[in-house]
Amino acid sequence: MNSPARTSKKLHIKTYGCQMNVYDSERMADILRPLGYEMAETSDDADLVVLNTCHIREKASEKVYSEIGRLKEQRGEKEARGGGRMTIAIAGCVAQAEGQEIMNRAPAVDLVIGPQAYHQLPELIARTTRMKGERLAADFAPDAKFDALTAERNVTGPTAFLTVQEGCDKFCTFCVVPYTRGAEWSRPVASILEEARGLAAKGVREVTLLGQNVNAYNGVDADGQPSTLAKLMYALADIEGIDRLRYTTSHPNDMGDDLIAAHGDLGALMPYLHLPVQSGSDKILRAMNRKHGRAAYVELIQRIKAARPDLALSGDFIVGFPGETDRDFEDTLDLVRTVGYASAFTFKYSPRPGTPAASMPNQVPEDVMDERLQRLNALIVEQQQAFKETLVGQVLPVLFEKKGRYGRQAIGRSPYLQSVFVEDADHLMGQIVPVRITALGNNSLQGALLAPVEA
Ligand code: 5AD
Ligand code: SF4
Repeated sequence: MNSPARTSKKLHIKTYGCQMNVYDSERMADILRPLGYEMAETSDDADLVVLNTCHIREKASEKVYSEIGRLKEQRGEKEARGGGRMTIAIAGCVAQAEGQEIMNRAPAVDLVIGPQAYHQLPELIARTTRMKGERLAADFAPDAKFDALTAERNVTGPTAFLTVQEGCDKFCTFCVVPYTRGAEWSRPVASILEEARGLAAKGVREVTLLGQNVNAYNGVDADGQPSTLAKLMYALADIEGIDRLRYTTSHPNDMGDDLIAAHGDLGALMPYLHLPVQSGSDKILRAMNRKHGRAAYVELIQRIKAARPDLALSGDFIVGFPGETDRDFEDTLDLVRTVGYASAFTFKYSPRPGTPAASMPNQVPEDVMDERLQRLNALIVEQQQAFKETLVGQVLPVLFEKKGRYGRQAIGRSPYLQSVFVEDADHLMGQIVPVRITALGNNSLQGALLAPVEA
């Protein structure tokens, strides 16, 4: 007997790095779905595997090559059992930065595609299945990408990412983003609103606006004038169903007055802001080309908190930037104590080829970086814990996202992005409900409904 013809092909996407990559992976799946590609949880049986890579630090980059090795083995096994061919595509920032090197070093790779070319994916996949070894020119044309990516989004759950801006013109001396993602570019307001309306129609209540430099957003509005992130958010908040907004990642120098004011006036804007400073030492900030000093950052935080007193902060910090002395590092600890963070990401400096800092003198030894990272992490954990403790006893609006593991438990999201576990709440998916925080979990909060709530 003949086996039935296979109508669908299996697609597995593995995503590394930032939320922008998570968004891009979803959009790649959206654009491939009409071609019959269904998402597969694992790569072993996939017809097409896309690695959406990250180039920000060396470790993230290197992972790609070991993953390609693993895929090559899986491909052999799949073919041996008559499962057909597996196409391997490398996307994301490593593809953009090291496309040719990947092709040379990893002949198993069929296709290399940079972040601005995802709209060409269907055509390129079709071509590579016919003729192996396509390498895409590293061009930056984000408008073409977004014009072509209007395909419907396949969201599940009440939260979604929405990219509004790409690229970066800041050129911090440690960072590859201006090279891998290109110059700052903002999507037009109309196209963002259209995407957001589509999300709202599918039950999305909370949208996180993404951009490498999201608060530099200046896309054109209906009158052909440059908008601002604040104006965009007011328009988004007017969409029926969109109740919560967030944005990430921001640069301190692009916190405009209207954006600061929006933190006070715009109810939908969540009181949680990711505003990286990287270091607390003026000398290091200068060497990083951050274009602002420590005092300006502290003053900025005070102004945002004046607009929104319950604002909680998150940040990024790099330890061991070239030339960082014990004194400079103490300045970072001191800044963290001064500002107070609800959470933060900490990194050891990683020299990236082609960036100015990679060839700076006085690179900091690994063991010194390790020790500093540990001390900084200990302080951040302490602050994170202290922040969570202030929430116990408070009533917070929680957006219920998914069912918990036990009984009728449900898991929701606090305004501060923490997971909140609540019993007898599994009928409240997609709703925002007041919850009293009763206790702290490991990486989460526990809460209780104020009274039984109807669905
Ligand atoms: N080394 C270590 N951390 C880095 N980051 C960016 N580039 C590097 C690097 N070369 C960190 C910054 C940035 C975050 C996304 O990654 O803190 O804000
Ligand atoms: Fe990189 Fe952010 Fe600096 Fe741009 S502002 S160069 S993305 S760290």
